[in-house]
Amino acid sequence: MKLLVTGGAGFIGSAVVRLAVARGHAVVNVDALTYAACLDNVASVAQSPLYAFEQADIRDRAALDRVFAKHRPDAVMHLAAESHVDRSIDGPGDFIETNVIGTFNMLEAARKYWTEAGRPETFRFHHISTDEVFGSLPKDPSIKFTEDTPYDPRSPYSASKASSDHLVRAWHETYGLPVVLTNCSNNYGPFHFPEKLVPVIILNALAGKPLPIYGDGSNIRDWLFVEDHADALLLVVEKGALGRSYNIGGENERTNLELVRTLCAILDEKRPKAQGSYADQITFVTDRPGHDARYAIDPTRIRTELGWRPSVTVEEGLARTVQWYLDNEPWWRALQGRKGVGERLGVKA
Ligand SMILES: NC(=O)c1ccc[n+]([C@@H]2O[C@H](COP(=O)([O-])OP(=O)(O)OC[C@H]3O[C@@H](n4cnc5c(N)ncnc54)[C@H](O)[C@@H]3O)[C@@H](O)[C@H]2O)c1
Repeated sequence: MKLLVTGGAGFIGSAVVRLAVARGHAVVNVDALTYAACLDNVASVAQSPLYAFEQADIRDRAALDRVFAKHRPDAVMHLAAESHVDRSIDGPGDFIETNVIGTFNMLEAARKYWTEAGRPETFRFHHISTDEVFGSLPKDPSIKFTEDTPYDPRSPYSASKASSDHLVRAWHETYGLPVVLTNCSNNYGPFHFPEKLVPVIILNALAGKPLPIYGDGSNIRDWLFVEDHADALLLVVEKGALGRSYNIGGENERTNLELVRTLCAILDEKRPKAQGSYADQITFVTDRPGHDARYAIDPTRIRTELGWRPSVTVEEGLARTVQWYLDNEPWWRALQGRKGVGERLGVKA
């Protein structure tokens, strides 16, 4: 299969690119190389004859038409997005332009290409989205997000992703474009950009800095190892039913405080401090405005229809992640100088 992957120099996109090439798929990585991108994320496949890179911005429709005409993909996996909620609070405009207008451009470029190719039924436009479009859940563990949960986005980021999901479904209903969608929970793992919670905690811990916990740390997320997510995405693009959406979760609900304490315990074992525990560095800071209380995925559909399950528990995945950061210091050091990294963003609503 020839896959056109957008956002393949980012965190999840690069995991998809690496896994797809390892499984023998041809991959065209289309990425604008924003602050969040790092081509080192795909260095392990860059020399493969199966891999091609196109620097293009999804806000640039003409560039997308050129990429489709040149590479003629069998399927699109659309991951390119502005992805950091805190940045969306400070600067929502970029999120509307890339996540909404950019997705519109992708749909139109894909529709043109697919129509001119004779509307092949086998073509797929796979839109990768987030569980944040569903809003915030109460703490009752029996209530989870299903594919039928009504949309209720509450941040500029999640509202822009919800908008893009609606566009993708509309292009399927109106134009017959063969789409599939996925909404997944919080990812973590190797190559995670050092502004997101898990790498911030690991790197601040190692630097002897405070470990910032928003509010009282009781917010619950359903943590998914990025390589399990990439595996699920490849399954959906190959076997997902036309027009259907699938929720993908790790079945690993943890409060932020529990997650941070687990990371500290792993670090205490792998890189003990001279005195005390990394948990001594935990500091509670002002909460994010509109911080959603809980996300949790009911993955019944992808499990029963496609037979997918996460392969690791959050403890196993976090141990692998911590080890990866310990082994790859040059990678994260190079990114720490990028604009906004290490700063507290999105505090003022
Ligand atoms: N990280 C998570 O926990 C998570 C959870 C659920 C869903 N998602 C979704 O998965 C996708 C990937 O997330 P991520 O965490 O890997 O993001 P990321 O920020 O690490 O990477 C995004 C990539 O998209 C590229 N990009 C941004 N704007 C672009 C533009 N205008 N044109 C072309 N490329 C552009 C960036 O250069 C970067 O390489 C996003 O759509 C996100 O909404 C992420």
